[in-house]
Amino acid sequence: MNSLERLLENNRVWSETIRRQQPDFFEVLAHQQSPEFLWIGCSDSRVPANQVVGLKPGEVFVHRNVANVVVHTDLNCLSVIQYGVDVLRVRHIIVCGHYGCGGVIAAMRNQKLGLIDNWLRHVQDVQEKYAAPLGKITGETQLADRLCELNVIEQALNVCQTTVVQDAWTRGQEVSVHGWIYGLQNGLVRDLKMSIGHRHELATAYAAAVAAVE
Ligand code: CO
Repeated sequence: MNSLERLLENNRVWSETIRRQQPDFFEVLAHQQSPEFLWIGCSDSRVPANQVVGLKPGEVFVHRNVANVVVHTDLNCLSVIQYGVDVLRVRHIIVCGHYGCGGVIAAMRNQKLGLIDNWLRHVQDVQEKYAAPLGKITGETQLADRLCELNVIEQALNVCQTTVVQDAWTRGQEVSVHGWIYGLQNGLVRDLKMSIGHRHELATAYAAAVAAVE
């Protein structure tokens, strides 16, 4: 069996297993999705959104890109946020980064990898913003860990500043933004305490989250 045949065989077994447990599982899902969560994470193959937080198909709406970056003009990510908030009415938006992120490390080392350097420039902007506290860190691993954390906090802030989330808060829709980070070494998610459910919480939560990781 070649590797692609293995995937199709895995799929057949997976589908059968789920239908054995709940015969109408796919039928129900085919008619609607109403996920409570939007996950914005890294494309890294080691951080699969559904699995790490134990959610089934239908329970989490997902956007992933290299280094979980939220850019104010990225129509792809903004469209996911807009559809998630306005149409699916998710209650929580989770930006989940991870330690040992190849994108963050490449940005930190100023590596030249091609087109992606332009994308990772956003992470370098985060690094420059925190040049003073990051400059005090000596070990490269420690520096990468702090930059991974600060990148999550900054990207969660960017989510809060989108017109989509701002408009949702203005009309009183309940939607909160959270910053989490996943450990490749132990499979555990750490809450960076960047949780914001209202506009007035933003400045305090952001300052506290940054102070906690600096
Ligand atoms: Co990554």
